[in-house]
Amino acid sequence: MTTLEEDARAVLPAAVFDYYRDGFGAQVTRDEATAAWREWRFVPRLFRDVSRVSTEVELFGARLAAPVLAGPTALHTLAHPEGEAATVRGVEAAGSLLVLSARAGRPLAEVPLRRPWWFQSYVLRDREITERQVRAAVAAGASAIVLTADAPYVHPRPVPQAGALSPATRPAGSEQDPALNSAAIAWLAGISGKPVLVKGVLGARDAAACVDAGAAGVIVSNHGGRQLDRVIATPRALGPVAAAVAGRVPVLVDGGIQDGGDVLTALALGATAVLIGRPVLWALAAGGADGVRDCLDLLRTDLARAMAQTGLPTIGDIDADVVTRG
Ligand SMILES: Cc1cc2nc3c(=O)[nH]c(=O)nc-3n(C[C@H](O)[C@H](O)[C@H](O)COP(=O)(O)O)c2cc1C
Repeated sequence: MTTLEEDARAVLPAAVFDYYRDGFGAQVTRDEATAAWREWRFVPRLFRDVSRVSTEVELFGARLAAPVLAGPTALHTLAHPEGEAATVRGVEAAGSLLVLSARAGRPLAEVPLRRPWWFQSYVLRDREITERQVRAAVAAGASAIVLTADAPYVHPRPVPQAGALSPATRPAGSEQDPALNSAAIAWLAGISGKPVLVKGVLGARDAAACVDAGAAGVIVSNHGGRQLDRVIATPRALGPVAAAVAGRVPVLVDGGIQDGGDVLTALALGATAVLIGRPVLWALAAGGADGVRDCLDLLRTDLARAMAQTGLPTIGDIDADVVTRG
């Protein structure tokens, strides 16, 4: 358990801590997520001028302090009374970008979104509900839509009853559409007028099919091991997905990323940026908006340190040669 996780455990009710932490079933996928990044080793380069190191990137027009985003996670109100309102303040203070979950604990109007942000959407059985949510997000300034495609069914887990959107209050038809197909990508792009990234891609063929169907990006993710156990670890899926996408669109990745070395490995394996899930929730619980800012700042400075030590002054200098397996 990381220090951040321990700090969060000390302040959270046990049911909330478990809800955030748990994966599915025997927890094999959740438990191996971080270790899987650490199967790669760095091959530093010498005689590179690293007197200045920049982690800055631009992604879909947004300037980011580092290629590290706060991924979509539900119900931040369980972690902190201000919920997503505190999260976004921390994320923006760190120069990062929040992907706001469709299952946020606070209504959109109560989340002070100032810098670029993205909206995560499911496609629900009732498409009108989906359309309303997406249009509201775009009206509130969302600059991209993340379509989470790896959850045809929600794994029934006990949800502690503090969020505004506990399942009991959801209207009929608001469960995910299990008959979803890739035409949803173009449909979402049409109603939003925004780039659509598909989240939950683990196979090379799916990645190519998403791009062919109009995806502006793919996110390699196993949903934190929460949908199905013994799903492939994301670092192992990333290389083949990046090869299949072949630079046509950005490839993002999440799952178990905890430090700058994990981020550097992800970028070397072909990712354009990474998303952080649980660590942001732990930081929010333990330290509110400042905690979230510090968590993301620490990842950025740790990435800069790893880049300096491997002879890579800019994100654009990172390539596959800087890592080797085992
Ligand atoms: C408590 C919790 C809630 C989540 N809610 C969502 C969600 O609403 N939408 C979504 O696309 N992914 C959701 N996810 C998955 C995350 O976006 C991410 O894929 C996953 O947590 C992997 O990152 P991590 O290992 O850094 O936590 C959730 C994950 C957790 C832990």
